[in-house]
Amino acid sequence: MDLFEYQARDLFEDYGVPVLRGDVAATPEEAREAAARIGGVTVVKAQVKIGGRGKAGGIRLVHTPEEAATAAGDILGMDIKGHTVKQVMIAQAVDIAAEYYFSVLLDRANRSYLAMCSTEGGMDIETLAEEKPEALARVEVDPLTGLDEAKAREIVAAAGFDEEVGELVVPVLQKLYEVYRAEDATLVEVNPLVLTEQGEVIAIDAKITLDDNAAFRHDNRAALAEAAGHLDPLEQQARDKGLKYVTLDGSVGIIGNGAGLVMSTLDVVAAAGEKHGGQKPANFLDIGGGASAETMTAALEIVLADEQVRSVFVNVFGGITACDDVAHGIVAALEALGEAATKPLVVRLDGNNVDEGRRILAEYDHPLVTGVWSMDEAADRAAEFAASPSAEQQKVQG
Ligand SMILES: Nc1ncnc2c1ncn2[C@@H]1O[C@H](COP(=O)(O)OP(=O)(O)OP(=O)(O)O)[C@@H](O)[C@H]1O
Ligand SMILES: [Mg+2]
Repeated sequence: MDLFEYQARDLFEDYGVPVLRGDVAATPEEAREAAARIGGVTVVKAQVKIGGRGKAGGIRLVHTPEEAATAAGDILGMDIKGHTVKQVMIAQAVDIAAEYYFSVLLDRANRSYLAMCSTEGGMDIETLAEEKPEALARVEVDPLTGLDEAKAREIVAAAGFDEEVGELVVPVLQKLYEVYRAEDATLVEVNPLVLTEQGEVIAIDAKITLDDNAAFRHDNRAALAEAAGHLDPLEQQARDKGLKYVTLDGSVGIIGNGAGLVMSTLDVVAAAGEKHGGQKPANFLDIGGGASAETMTAALEIVLADEQVRSVFVNVFGGITACDDVAHGIVAALEALGEAATKPLVVRLDGNNVDEGRRILAEYDHPLVTGVWSMDEAADRAAEFAASPSAEQQKVQG
């Protein structure tokens, strides 16, 4: 999960990383109030999870609360590289003497952590790494010993800080690492970390990616996720019902049992979709092992509620979940949906109690349901349905 800058700033503050006063605002009026509270010159910053906000006009220096409101009015609703600005952060402005770069991240390839640091911050880090790789120090941080004072000194030396500034930077790096470690982050990045004219080192931008696998040991995660807009409404609904669901951007809804089967279903549908005008999976949904008829109903409700979905592929290999339970679930879901069900379902059942499952579907004989017993063929039919121009026509074909 990626946090917004203001959320990351708040976490930094909790760990004693020097940050500027800052407040989030969703309206020009809130921006005005925040600027008045902070006082003096402030910066209005678009809260989107993408870099290059400055160049896109998403960061403005303002001198009065009135100007802050105007700037917020301009920035809110702005589209920055496909991200709509819904909130702005009002931050105290500082006089910058120098801009640096620091990040610590999970280095999967080396099964370790990696710290990166440069005295040439502010600019896009990918550009820096490409154009002046020698200006970007890369130092491995052993997860067992962490980023202690000695390691911080090593990083600062590798980046080429002069001694005086280096001494100021060292404790900040240690605190940033503390955020990384204690919050189970996979990335903490500050670009820029600045030296002010007054000689203070301050993080004026903040980027944090949290490891979702560690969510269970952090009480703050649910609130962060909600504010981070991490879950779309369907994902939230699925989570509440205990389903593993991720929205994707295609048109073929997918329901399967077991993560492996669902993953391969996505692949098979994507491949089949190429023959049908580039149809792609609309989601990942794993109803899990031992799924009941109710689970199936809940899954279908969620997938059918996705407006992008034009057909649904239910791919179940009966193990603990018996095919007849799945078939009952499909019947129950269609009964519950009634007229609201307008999208064709391609159902492939195999495994435990398959004959009974197929018999239940055949007997129900719903015009939207097509039973296809091979995975490739079923994927092809589902993609074909998704490609057809109207639901009416799909019904006729179904
Ligand atoms: N509080 C502040 N006071 C003074 N200058 C600031 C402040 N915040 C940001 N800036 C200036 O704006 C620049 C961009 O800010 P920031 O790094 O937060 O955004 P960004 O999304 O990374 O933007 P970009 O990718 O365009 O650099 C900074 O490098 C800094 O020069
Ligand atoms: Mg930045």
